[in-house]
Amino acid sequence: MYASNDRDKKGFATRAIHAGSEEREVHGSLVPPVYMSSTFTFDSAEQGAAMFEGEEKGHFYSRISNPTLDILERRFASLEGAEAALACASGMGAITSCFWTLLSAGDEIIVDETLYGCTFAFIRSGLAKFGVTPLYVDMSDPENVRAAITDKTRFIYFETPANPNMRLVDIAAIADIAKDHDVLSIVDNTYCTPYLTRPIEMGVDLVVHSATKYLGGHGDLMGGLVTGSLELITAIRLEGLKDMTGAVMSPLTAHQIMRGLKTLELRMDRHCSSAMTIAKILAAHPTVKTVSYPGLKSFPQHALAKKQMAGFGGMIAFELHGGIEAGRALMNALGLIKRAVSLGDPDSLIQHPASMTHSAYTPEERQEYGISDSLIRLSVGLETPADILDDLLQGLEQASALFKGAA
Ligand SMILES: Cc1ncc(COP(=O)(O)O)c(C=O)c1O
Repeated sequence: MYASNDRDKKGFATRAIHAGSEEREVHGSLVPPVYMSSTFTFDSAEQGAAMFEGEEKGHFYSRISNPTLDILERRFASLEGAEAALACASGMGAITSCFWTLLSAGDEIIVDETLYGCTFAFIRSGLAKFGVTPLYVDMSDPENVRAAITDKTRFIYFETPANPNMRLVDIAAIADIAKDHDVLSIVDNTYCTPYLTRPIEMGVDLVVHSATKYLGGHGDLMGGLVTGSLELITAIRLEGLKDMTGAVMSPLTAHQIMRGLKTLELRMDRHCSSAMTIAKILAAHPTVKTVSYPGLKSFPQHALAKKQMAGFGGMIAFELHGGIEAGRALMNALGLIKRAVSLGDPDSLIQHPASMTHSAYTPEERQEYGISDSLIRLSVGLETPADILDDLLQGLEQASALFKGAA
């Protein structure tokens, strides 16, 4: 078995395939069995009591732990370079299980201005009902975070690149500020996956993921993961997950995510190279007004991207000269690229954040927090790159003809 602290000994792809599983699983089965069992029997009443007391290790109820989830958790902890991991039913299940564990009424949290829409809605509308105050800070300058910390601050929370506008946050700088002030730092690493960025190694306390995206990798499941120290993960497992959200991952989903992880490195390499090609062509296209892709030299935080990302990812945000009307015309003209939310699938997906994933923000909040109404978000898939480009270019042609007609 490769424990998570063996991470220096084997490469990323090897660990993505093998870490966390026993040398020889049941019946010599190469792929670990899927334990579709809610409960596990005790040898004796005394053993049951000892397990509930935490004196004896073992699985006894799948809302707390399950052997299939256990392998995924060990494997993923190894990939993130973390001591421990926790599997949840969705990305939101992972995020809310963390937050409910760590927060009490009267606490403040510091969050970046740009967040995935449902995370933003949970923080603004959900947490506010329970007496937690969020302070929204532009974290592209880490000093803004330092200035916002008070004695009530419990943790700092951000995404990088942020969904949907691709703004980056300097992970190591925020982790240092958090440590200086004895508060926790939590980052959503969904866009990068541990193949591109490993925030725990940069000093962050907890990392959350929507495994629905690149980790599952095939657009056929919902899942979430949290990584961090064993102490924090145990607290989130036994409080936030077990008692507060109950957002438990199905063992079958854990099996599907482990299948996805086996090709994560290959898929991410392809997502990154195709997105780079497309971003360059978009940036040079006369119909396109702005392109935000961390790999472009013109990207304002390109130096930071090179510092903390091993590749620049599969997500591109862009605006057309004709604004959202031209953007809608482009989306409606596409054939291969599908109009859909979510990301990280083999299929290229396109959506309009202001009216879809980020519609929980009011128009004023979007304006204040840097989410332009004309922004289009493209998740570059794994299709033949020339086919994605062909579709995009014919769509841009149609959109520009329409826009010129209207002008
Ligand atoms: C960055 C990010 N975090 C979290 C989530 C929530 O994940 P899920 O949909 O799996 O609950 C999403 C979903 O789109 C996301 O994009």
